[in-house]
Amino acid sequence: MLMRDRFPILKNQIYMNSCSQGALSVDVKDAYASYLRDWDEKGSPWEYWAERNEAARQAFAGLVNAEASEVAVTTSLSAGVSALASAMDFSGERNKVVVSDFEFPTVAQIWHAQEARGAKVVHVPAAGNVIPLSRFEDAIDEQTALVSISHVCFRNGSKLDIEAITEIAHRKGALVLVDSYQALGTTPIDVKRLKVDFLAGGVLKYLLASAGLAYLYVRKELVGGLNPTTMGWFSQANIFAMDIYANTPHPTARRFESGTPAVPNTYAAVAGIKLVQSVGVERIEQQIKELTGAIKEGVMKRGFNLVSPVDPKKHGALITVRSHKVDLLTKWLAKDGIIVSHRDDNLRISPHFYNDLHDVDCVIDGLTRHRELLV
Ligand SMILES: Cc1ncc(COP(=O)(O)O)c(C=O)c1O
Repeated sequence: MLMRDRFPILKNQIYMNSCSQGALSVDVKDAYASYLRDWDEKGSPWEYWAERNEAARQAFAGLVNAEASEVAVTTSLSAGVSALASAMDFSGERNKVVVSDFEFPTVAQIWHAQEARGAKVVHVPAAGNVIPLSRFEDAIDEQTALVSISHVCFRNGSKLDIEAITEIAHRKGALVLVDSYQALGTTPIDVKRLKVDFLAGGVLKYLLASAGLAYLYVRKELVGGLNPTTMGWFSQANIFAMDIYANTPHPTARRFESGTPAVPNTYAAVAGIKLVQSVGVERIEQQIKELTGAIKEGVMKRGFNLVSPVDPKKHGALITVRSHKVDLLTKWLAKDGIIVSHRDDNLRISPHFYNDLHDVDCVIDGLTRHRELLV
């Protein structure tokens, strides 16, 4: 089967909305069918379902070069980051959380919620569509406990220099959390090379699975010293102990999990990640570079207002274009069979490996047809 044929929606639509939800593949559809079949035929195969959760953990660990013991499997990115926040102590001198202005709301909201526990949240402001490194240098200091940054900004597609920001943070004794949701599956990510302390993300965008499954990576040297208060029986050292007299966190990153795993979604997550790896993340990165390059060129040639940075090193798989009636534009494009999305006044065009240059031409033609909403 040709790769494009694995995504039935591509027969009828120009699908460029992977920043919101990856296209459904026959592989992920089959994975959900397998879950229903297992349930139907085996009744309650909990041992096997626990193994599926471990397979989902292994799949992510392999993708980002972590050890499985450093990965918590959660139901959303928010759940993992909240568990991490609950384990942090903000009562001392080092109580500052430095948050970039490119964060997804959920992450910033979680850190602001910690103000009730003594945290001081400081935002690093953007300068247009970028955040200069000097602003991180100014904001991070010896009182900073954590720097929380988004790999690729969901609003405008800008990419932060994770290695450089991590170097600044570590030099000043602060830890680093990266929200890689918008980058996973589009570019090789190696947590050891990046030297980050925590990395969170989920599977429903470029990892091609569905809502309901996400991950938190915690560097192994840090796991034992972090005791979340968002616990549950699946975060215990021994879930079969059924102990109601004590809380005994698992020695690995599993301590950041909580209750019954999202079993159906583990099937989909493994299928989605495998599909991405079968294409190869390096190859995907190259293709996305070509497609985003063509989108930027088409947008600029027609005099539309490109919001994402032009430099390919400074944006992710998400190109944004300003529109003064962006909700209407998104609707009209959908009527033409072009699926994109928007945030603020930005139209978000987000190709994946299943798109080609013909798709880009269709999007640019679509924008040209509705140019009165763009300029
Ligand atoms: C950068 C980023 N972080 C987080 C999320 C969502 O996190 P959660 O799984 O908590 O809904 C999204 C998208 O929905 C996102 O784009």
